[in-house]
Amino acid sequence: MAPFLNRENNQAAVTVTTKGGTYPIYIEDRIIPVLAQYLQDIEGRHFFIFCDENTKRFLDSGFRQQLSSKGAVVKSHVFPAGEETKSFSRYEEGVNFLLKNNARRDSCLIALGGGVVGDITGFMAATLLRGVDFIQIPTTLLAQVDSSVGGKTGINTEFGKNLVGAFYQPKAVLVDLKSLSSLPEREFAAGMSEVIKYALLGDIKFLEWLEDNIDALYNQEVSTLREAIRKCCEMKAAVVAKDEKETSGVRALLNLGHTFGHAIEKLAGYNGSVLHGEAIAIGMVMAAELSHIEGMISAEDVKRVRDIIKKARLPQKTDFNSEDIYSAMQGDKKADRKGLNLILLKTLGDAAIFSNIDKKNIIKAISLCA
Ligand SMILES: NC(=O)c1ccc[n+]([C@@H]2O[C@H](COP(=O)([O-])OP(=O)(O)OC[C@H]3O[C@@H](n4cnc5c(N)ncnc54)[C@H](O)[C@@H]3O)[C@@H](O)[C@H]2O)c1
Repeated sequence: MAPFLNRENNQAAVTVTTKGGTYPIYIEDRIIPVLAQYLQDIEGRHFFIFCDENTKRFLDSGFRQQLSSKGAVVKSHVFPAGEETKSFSRYEEGVNFLLKNNARRDSCLIALGGGVVGDITGFMAATLLRGVDFIQIPTTLLAQVDSSVGGKTGINTEFGKNLVGAFYQPKAVLVDLKSLSSLPEREFAAGMSEVIKYALLGDIKFLEWLEDNIDALYNQEVSTLREAIRKCCEMKAAVVAKDEKETSGVRALLNLGHTFGHAIEKLAGYNGSVLHGEAIAIGMVMAAELSHIEGMISAEDVKRVRDIIKKARLPQKTDFNSEDIYSAMQGDKKADRKGLNLILLKTLGDAAIFSNIDKKNIIKAISLCA
């Protein structure tokens, strides 16, 4: 456990245990302004904070001064907002910033932002000097329930998303619920897509709970929000503990809707017209339709999936052509020499990986949402 985490006064909501490291997830109403309370033994330590144009607002909440007053050296770097930041050129920009500012083996990178900032910062941490400490402070719902936990880091290439990266665990994940208050509603909904994903792939009771509590979540009621995030982090931690590097198939289940969704994102060109979570929402409906076509879930189950997606103010349809989506799916990371592997629903709340699914059925499922 990293010595610089102050665990005495702070109660972890979830603990993630992997071969690559054991670390706490703290979920509190307000963490960023009091970040220094979560750290100790920091005199002389370098902290490099990465954020984007929209999350730089949190830099001025007082925590930098508190860290400096305890003898830490604190520097920050602001990336442009958006998926384009997960690129080779921004990665090089970030690493050059670190090296120019004398980053050392005992430096700590802090990702202060959504999944984009988290993924690129984690990748810099994994590769700088062959690995330095990093902390995730996720500020989107999507990052709080998903991308900040589990150690997947990386950047995009012209051939597809997340094709260059590393499994590299953070030293801690600090979830500040108040940070969500400035998040645009469309981004909040995109995060809800991943929350729904956990329910559909692994916990029918959580699905029922979500159906009852979705309005409270949109009203950002603290205890409800905390419970939803804790539940998702707990489920992700359990999966990652079993299959940190996605080798046994367990972790792949977290990709429910993602093979379809990544294809939609690729066709959209990562330009913000379709958000990751929106693409995943459509992808989950396609996966539900295909699960029904394959005889696993009922038409009522598909309706229930569509209803919760609708209640979460997420899309269920795309304008892209079914054949184009199918072609774009072929480049998916989860494809292997036997072809496409798809995560489908055996029942609501229980997913599994399937290969050799008939192309005709896949196209039919896509066309029900296209
Ligand atoms: N590593 C993983 O396991 C994993 C899992 C899922 C998704 N991802 C990746 O995460 C990325 C998507 O993450 P995202 O949805 O968080 O996108 P994002 O990081 O682009 O954030 C979405 C938008 O919200 C803004 N923003 C962030 N926090 C804010 C706040 N508190 N107030 C106001 N604005 C704020 C950002 O600047 C951005 O414009 C994708 O690149 C996806 O591939 C990674």
